[in-house]
Amino acid sequence: MDKDHLNSIAKTLVSKHKGILAADESTGTIEKRFDSINLVSNLSNRRSYRELLFTTPNINKYISGIILFDETTHQNTIEGISFVNLLHKLKIIPGVKVDQGLQSLTGSDDEMITSGLDGLETRLIGYKNIGCEFVKWRAVFKIGPKLPTQNCINTNVRLLAKYAIISQKINLVPIIEPEVLMDGDHSIEECFKTTEQVLTETYKQLNNYGVFLEGTILKPNMILPGNSYTKQSTPEEIAMKTITVLKKTVPSEVPGITFLSGGQTEEEATNNLNAINIQANITQFPWELSFSYGRGLQSTTLKKWSGKSANKKSAQEIFLHRSALTSAARQGKYSSTLEKSNI
Ligand code: 13P
Repeated sequence: MDKDHLNSIAKTLVSKHKGILAADESTGTIEKRFDSINLVSNLSNRRSYRELLFTTPNINKYISGIILFDETTHQNTIEGISFVNLLHKLKIIPGVKVDQGLQSLTGSDDEMITSGLDGLETRLIGYKNIGCEFVKWRAVFKIGPKLPTQNCINTNVRLLAKYAIISQKINLVPIIEPEVLMDGDHSIEECFKTTEQVLTETYKQLNNYGVFLEGTILKPNMILPGNSYTKQSTPEEIAMKTITVLKKTVPSEVPGITFLSGGQTEEEATNNLNAINIQANITQFPWELSFSYGRGLQSTTLKKWSGKSANKKSAQEIFLHRSALTSAARQGKYSSTLEKSNI
C-alpha cells in the first residue's frame, strides 16, 4: 500500500473550491433518469450524455474527480479519446463505482446489502491499469419501524471495510458510502440517531480491518427529515445536526467528507452544503466538507439536454453554473440570489 499516494489522491479530491461529480448511475438507474426525459437508454445515448458532462468547458474549475460506471470506463469521446484519458488531460481524477448493486439481506424483505466482493481484486487491478485512482461502494440503510436492524448494519459495514482494504492494497482510494435513505416519514432526530449508529459501526469495522483512514473519503447523507415527514427543517438545523453527528463519529485522520445529494433538489443540496460550510468556517473541523453529487448536479442539465444535440451547449452552461454554485456552497459562499446570476 502506497500511503503517500492514497493520501495525496484523497486530499486532491477534496481540494478547496472543488468536489466530485457522481456520474456512475448503473444501467438501471440511468434508465430511470432517461425515462424522465422520454429518452431510450442505449449505449449511444448514455455515451453522448456522459460526453456532454465531461466536455463542459471549464468544468475542472469546480470538479476534482468524476465517478464513472464500468461501461463508461470503456467508452470514448466522439474523437476517439477514452473518457478516462480525457479526464486525466483535464486534471480531473477518474474514479469508478465498483459495487455491483443491492440484493436482499438474507431472510429480510425490507433490507438490502451491497454485492460485489467476488472477484473484486481482479476488477480493481483492471481499473488501476487503465488509470482510475479511486473507487466507490454504496451501502443503504432504510429507516422504518425497527429498521435498520443491527444485522443489516453489521453485514453492510463489514462489506464496506473489506472493500476498502482490498482497494487500498491496489492503491485505489476507497470512497466509503453508507447512505441512510431519506425515503419515509421519519423525523430529523431519527435520521440523526440512525446515522450516528451506522457511522460508529462503520469506523469500528474500518479500524478492525486496518484501513488507512488518511487514504479514504467518507460519502455520507446529510441529517435530514424523511421526504414525507410533515415538518421540514431549516438549512441551519440540518447543518448543526449533520456536523454534530460527524464530530461524534468520524476520526480526524479522514481527509474529507463528500456528501451525497440523496434526492434533495439541486437548490436544497446547495443550500444545505452552504450552511454546513458556514459552520465549518466558524469552527475549524479536521476534515474538508465537500460534495459528491449525482442528481444534485445533474437534474436540470439532463432536463435541458433531453437527448437532443441541439441542446448540448445550453445544457453544458446549466451544468457549469450548477457546479459553480455548488463550489460556492462548498466554501460557505452561496446565496440563492446567485441562482439567477452568471457566476
Ligand atoms: P445522489 O447525489 O443523486 O444521491 O447520487 C450520489 C451517489 O453517488 C449515489 O450513490
